[in-house]
Amino acid sequence: MVVVAILAAGRGTRMKSHLPKVLHSLGGRSLVERVLESVEPLSPSRRIVIVGYQAEEVKAAMQSIPSLEFVEQTVQLGTGHAIQQLLPHLEGYTGDLLVLNGDLPLVRAQTLKKLLQTHQENHNAATILTAHLPEPKGYGRVFCNGENVVQQIVEDKDCTAAQRQNRRINAGVYCFRWQDLARVLPHLEANNAQKEYYLTDAVTQVGQVMAVDVEDYQEILGINDRLQLAAAYEILQQRVKEKWMIAGVTLIDPNSITIDETVKLHTDVIIEPQTHLRGNTVIQTGSRIGPGTLIENSQLGENVTVQYSVVTDSIVQAKSRIGPYAHLRGQAQVGTGCRVGNFVELKNTKLGDRTNVAHLSYLGDTTTGTKVNIGAGTITANYDGVNKHPTKIGDRTATGSNSVLVAPVTLGDDVYVAAGSAVTEDVPNDSLVIARSRQVVKPGWRKKQKSQE
Ligand code: UD1
Ligand code: CA
Repeated sequence: MVVVAILAAGRGTRMKSHLPKVLHSLGGRSLVERVLESVEPLSPSRRIVIVGYQAEEVKAAMQSIPSLEFVEQTVQLGTGHAIQQLLPHLEGYTGDLLVLNGDLPLVRAQTLKKLLQTHQENHNAATILTAHLPEPKGYGRVFCNGENVVQQIVEDKDCTAAQRQNRRINAGVYCFRWQDLARVLPHLEANNAQKEYYLTDAVTQVGQVMAVDVEDYQEILGINDRLQLAAAYEILQQRVKEKWMIAGVTLIDPNSITIDETVKLHTDVIIEPQTHLRGNTVIQTGSRIGPGTLIENSQLGENVTVQYSVVTDSIVQAKSRIGPYAHLRGQAQVGTGCRVGNFVELKNTKLGDRTNVAHLSYLGDTTTGTKVNIGAGTITANYDGVNKHPTKIGDRTATGSNSVLVAPVTLGDDVYVAAGSAVTEDVPNDSLVIARSRQVVKPGWRKKQKSQE
């Protein structure tokens, strides 16, 4: 049985931010949410987040996570002091406690499992995660004997010059037999450079402690400042992109592309430069996205192309071509084989199969049938200043250039709208509608005017 505690009470001074460090976002999720995700596969019996600095904000940000517990550390006197706050909450508990720093967003569940396993198999009082860092500055150094048994952990600020040469560092992930830890916690002292109660001091007092090295040291990079936040994002992106390239997706100029971990891509998708895929986006096989495109929370079918466009909260079915410079939003749905072209905006609009909206249009709250042709510059006037109204357009209907459809309005099947019309009333099937004043030509008008001058 394992209880998880996440240290999230610190301010994170080095972030130079009003936002508590653990709430800073990394690829769409906060640092502390990421830590929580990494422990999920261990099925902990309880998950406790220790909050302090801006506790209310931190709690509010995690409100929606079920059965999460919060314990307050009202003054931040160090990581050891933070864990002391658990004493009244874990009275009588006889299992293990997994402690993680809240600023450790890249750690893998697999690594935590291995730590827990080593801890339990060796009946250790504590087992800690360590790494050999090329640049260990700022981290606590871990000194072990030949059997990976920890002798001492010395914080960077407390190290002698010789101790600082040690590149084996404390990752900030610890597994404790709770009863052993609970015994030593009340006796911690703050005799150190930072005048803090260090959890690392407790580690060496509990009994036999083993160190487990992480395979990939990038996993345990702690986020203390914005440089490390950016470096972590890069590592995350690298993981995601490698995964998709191995799975059969082409990324052209991967460094200019960003992909959230939540995105799903199928084989033979091609992502062109400067393209960003976010949220719950799914892209089916053969589609080519970009360059210069943002797709967010959208589903794209097979063999879709999207160029220089923004697609959010929308669906595009197979073989449709979007862009350049299109904007789909608010549950837009594009059928198969459609074309949504230059400077076209679709909002809460459903296009039937093989419909074209090729140039300079706004369609809002509109439903079209199949094989509709929306002429250049057609606009649906869907808003009367108070309410939004729907527009319905039947199969094979075509609108002339620069026409306005004033909603609510319905055009039947096979309707033709004359260019420049302002359509305010419904139009039955098979009709031509001309809703503009007739052209008047007055020959010789200029000459006549001159003679009057
Ligand atoms: C800590 C470790 C160090 C390790 C490093 C790994 C200690 C004493 N040092 O150092 O050995 O190499 O992490 O990244 O533990 N926090 C609280 N309450 C407090 C102080 C901190 O909840 O009173 C939380 C912070 O919000 C943070 C975590 O504990 O999530 C670690 O604190 P931080 O100040 O970042 O510790 P480091 O100096 O990085
Ligand atoms: Ca840290």
